[in-house]
Amino acid sequence: MAADARVSVDEGSEQQPSHRALDNNYDSATYKPAAFRLDDINIDLISVIITTATAAAAVISILLLHQPPAKLIAPATAAAASVLALRLFLPRPNPPRGLVLITGGSSGIGAEMAYIFAEKGHDLILVGRNEEQLEAVKNNVKEKFARSAYTVAADLSRPGAAKELYDHVTNHGFTVDVLVNGAGLGGVGDVLEQSIEFAERMTTLNCISLVQLTQLFGKDMVKQGRGWMLQISSVGGWMASPGQNIYHATKHYVRAFSEALSLELRTYPGIVNTQLMPGPTHTQFVTRAHAEETFMMAASGAVEDPKAVAMAGYQALCKGKRMVFGSWNSAATALMMQLAPRSVHLTFAAMMNSPLRGRMRMKEPEKDQKARGSDLKER
Ligand SMILES: NC(=O)c1ccc[n+]([C@@H]2O[C@H](COP(=O)([O-])OP(=O)(O)OC[C@H]3O[C@@H](n4cnc5c(N)ncnc54)[C@H](OP(=O)(O)O)[C@@H]3O)[C@@H](O)[C@H]2O)c1
Repeated sequence: MAADARVSVDEGSEQQPSHRALDNNYDSATYKPAAFRLDDINIDLISVIITTATAAAAVISILLLHQPPAKLIAPATAAAASVLALRLFLPRPNPPRGLVLITGGSSGIGAEMAYIFAEKGHDLILVGRNEEQLEAVKNNVKEKFARSAYTVAADLSRPGAAKELYDHVTNHGFTVDVLVNGAGLGGVGDVLEQSIEFAERMTTLNCISLVQLTQLFGKDMVKQGRGWMLQISSVGGWMASPGQNIYHATKHYVRAFSEALSLELRTYPGIVNTQLMPGPTHTQFVTRAHAEETFMMAASGAVEDPKAVAMAGYQALCKGKRMVFGSWNSAATALMMQLAPRSVHLTFAAMMNSPLRGRMRMKEPEKDQKARGSDLKER
């Protein structure tokens, strides 16, 4: 795409579409009004209601009758457990098929995602800025998996770039079935030390472009009656982190956006939205964000393997999961951050993101996709 091209994004019409407007305007063949549906969220909800009601009944019984309601607890616990077990029997969505567009497909997790999809038989559109790396991933896809990849060099940290990319792709006659929003940028440092322009680029790339691509391609998916979206956020989306403040704040944004989107999509059968939350992963991201000397990256060695993280995302998408962590380690960190008192949370997050000033440093990750491509022989 021309580097200086600008396409204005919808300024937003006066009329905000409401659920009712969706009801009225959308094709009833694809839009199913939100009715009660037995999905993972409702199953968990019923189970929580039974458990809470049982606990309340037990407390009331102890206070009024001075004895625990033994006859109530066992059947209620069994009921809650059996409702939860229903999760195992939920119907799975169709596995992804068709053309896959990956932003951030030129390196790291996005490139590994490209190889996984190519191995499963998908053709690809790869988006990034580094044309050489895009070309290297494209060649690997072609040589190792005999699939085609179309590359688009685009800077998604510019306002309007997402719409430009959408127009470019659709004008070339492509219909995107699977959207992987993987492009992301981090930045270590105190907020008041960071430039306003850098913060704006990070926010535009990590949040605005991700949302706009989801809206643009998502609307087409609704019309097609099928589609799969994978949003890459971060375990940082669970941490309020002094020293990595804006980056982790952008990932909070993506986490909230993606979770709520998954619920909105309950009314569109055939459209899946999954969020992948990696922890410290051994990619160029860490050095680009100047995070290699933070306690979190240096002490862990950014151990998560991008291939394994990408596979976790792919498998979760196939199962129609709302969210998945890159590893058990990330899941445990997020759980701890969720449960810890705020004082503990903030102290721990500050410690994790503090710089070690040369005392410890993460090993420089592989920069060259040609070299990473050599890993593919093992597949
Ligand atoms: N590595 C980690 O520890 C970690 C942890 C949690 C979450 N994540 C998230 O995982 C995702 C992938 O990161 P990664 O670890 O695979 O790092 P990476 O190797 O640096 O990949 C980042 C990708 O984003 C693309 N990108 C960066 N700026 C861009 C821009 N302005 N316009 C278009 N594309 C741009 C890069 O392409 P070009 O270089 O070609 O521009 C690259 O393909 C990111 O969203 C990141 O926030 C990473």
